[in-house]
Amino acid sequence: MTVQNRVRRMAGVGTVPPMPEVCSEGSPDAGERYVEPEDPDGYFGEEVAAQYDDPSSDMFAPEAVEPVVELIAGLAAEHGGGSGALEFGIGTGRIALPLARRGVPVHGIDMSRAMVERLRAKPGGADIGVGIGDFATTRVDGDDFTVAYLVFNTINNLTTQDAQVDCFCNAAAHLVTGGCFVIEVGVPDLRRLPPGQNVVPFHVGPTRLGFDEYDVATQGMRSHHVWDVDGRKVHRSIPFRYVWPAELDLMARLAGMRLRDRWAGWNGEPFTSDSTSHVSVWEKTA
Ligand SMILES: C[S@@+](CC[C@H](N)C(=O)[O-])C[C@H]1O[C@@H](n2cnc3c(N)ncnc32)[C@H](O)[C@@H]1O
Repeated sequence: MTVQNRVRRMAGVGTVPPMPEVCSEGSPDAGERYVEPEDPDGYFGEEVAAQYDDPSSDMFAPEAVEPVVELIAGLAAEHGGGSGALEFGIGTGRIALPLARRGVPVHGIDMSRAMVERLRAKPGGADIGVGIGDFATTRVDGDDFTVAYLVFNTINNLTTQDAQVDCFCNAAAHLVTGGCFVIEVGVPDLRRLPPGQNVVPFHVGPTRLGFDEYDVATQGMRSHHVWDVDGRKVHRSIPFRYVWPAELDLMARLAGMRLRDRWAGWNGEPFTSDSTSHVSVWEKTA
């Protein structure tokens, strides 16, 4: 699997290197690898934000963006439109800006000021209201959004089941009855993990290595990226929690929602046993 495919499969960074340095070759490894960033922007701080928008990336191509905007705009128009659409993890506005250009009122939540600064610097970006904070718990004004959405595998950035459940509850709290919560996320890839092995490479090349490290007992996963920068090895790792479609349905039930649709992609492709990702729509029932 190429890095490009990998990025599509699991959100962590929007583009490939350069990445911020976590530990350099020759520095002691023990105890350093899993030190979480102190940056309040989380894993999407200044250096990642500066590289995030990559027009050459598949995820920024019109074929990737337009079907998302189409689906979300349709859901936003239901129930009289309410407050419109709320994006969890709005980032630099890859989806929010074209959605707003369609005339849909859009709000967002994101913990990364660096990402949101990029959004605000773009045409129309300053008109989008963004709450800075954790989308599992942060509230923005309004409880009558007709759709909340969380794309590009970003539910996996919440690394505990409790936080993922909180995220569903937070979405429901912002929605009008009948409003929808939409998630785009990969199906956990455990079939690539033979018994006794906890690491799966996704890129092996002379200047770049990428591999996922699994902790199946906790549904934890850590993506490691190692680059050669001017002859120096740079290592970055990002933690995720992978989550099963049926588990998400249960989280939705806990939050007072039920599954309305599940597809393999944004164009309504059937979701099957072989699907590697899904777009799921839950509806708030009461
Ligand atoms: C992969 S980017 C996706 C950005 C945008 N939705 C897109 O599709 O391009 C993930 C975004 O979610 C934000 N994020 C990750 N975890 C978060 C959390 N727990 N609370 C708020 N924002 C978070 C990051 O700061 C980043 O902007």
